[in-house]
Amino acid sequence: MDFSGKVAIVTGGGGGIGRATSLGFAKGGAKVVVVDRDESLGEGTAGILRQQGGDTTYVRADVTKSADVQAYVKAALDKYGRIDCFFNNAGIEGKLADTVDYDEDAFDQVIAVNVRGVFLGLKYVLPALIKQGSGAVVNTASVAGLVATPGMSAYVASKHAVIGLTKAASGEVARNGVRVNAVCPGPIDTRMIQSIAQTRSPNDPAGFAAGYQQMIPIGRYGRAEEIANLVLFLCSDASSNMTGGHYVSDGGRTATGGAFTAVKA
Ligand SMILES: NC(=O)c1ccc[n+]([C@@H]2O[C@H](COP(=O)([O-])OP(=O)(O)OC[C@H]3O[C@@H](n4cnc5c(N)ncnc54)[C@H](O)[C@@H]3O)[C@@H](O)[C@H]2O)c1
Repeated sequence: MDFSGKVAIVTGGGGGIGRATSLGFAKGGAKVVVVDRDESLGEGTAGILRQQGGDTTYVRADVTKSADVQAYVKAALDKYGRIDCFFNNAGIEGKLADTVDYDEDAFDQVIAVNVRGVFLGLKYVLPALIKQGSGAVVNTASVAGLVATPGMSAYVASKHAVIGLTKAASGEVARNGVRVNAVCPGPIDTRMIQSIAQTRSPNDPAGFAAGYQQMIPIGRYGRAEEIANLVLFLCSDASSNMTGGHYVSDGGRTATGGAFTAVKA
């Protein structure tokens, strides 16, 4: 994918999927603004990009805070003068608990990062794209935006909301040359899935992970690079007729309703 001369913002750019996508954008020649609330992770990604000869800036921001979101947009425009691709990706998994036991503050926190953060990103990045008359946005939903995982009600609700935000915003800006899509990763091998395995099965996270991967038709977790490839495609001209959609990359898990058992080993 050729992104030379283009500018990409990646939120959650210090994490697994965000880092892989930042690297992909840079490999294609884009200038990358890495946004993360965790400075060591965000600077870590920026450092790798610089080592590889990339032009990058790290901006520390908490995506739940309007001032921080406005500041990362301003930083991108001040430094590079435009924004072409926006990967609105920062997210948290929250607690694992049934709805009746789900802590109210923990619920609010998940909604703040995964819904308000995505909303604020759209609210403050889209004006720059509309002004330019071009641009592509990809929001990170999840297969949890399509089907439920019991014990993760806040996360499931938040990712359904990301698909809703994607649909609403896409229609608003389609005539301005701006596209808005969502990706729905299945289980991907990053900190997040490792943390879920640890919480679900503190005594045997590796056993939990092995069992979980057996239930995925492809037989393994996805890799962050596989989500990055989908995001890059959705930000490229190769997807110029695609907007308002949500695209699954999950090794076949959703297609089998999570009830897959291999017939052959
Ligand atoms: N890993 C999976 O299995 C999986 C599956 C489906 C969807 N997702 C989604 O993919 C996205 C990326 O997750 P990941 O797997 O790379 O996990 P990750 O934990 O490695 O990365 C998330 C990044 O977001 C950052 N972040 C969290 N809250 C933030 C905030 N308020 N402001 C700024 N940055 C913040 C974290 O510091 C971290 O660097 C998330 O939206 C997640 O919900 C992940």
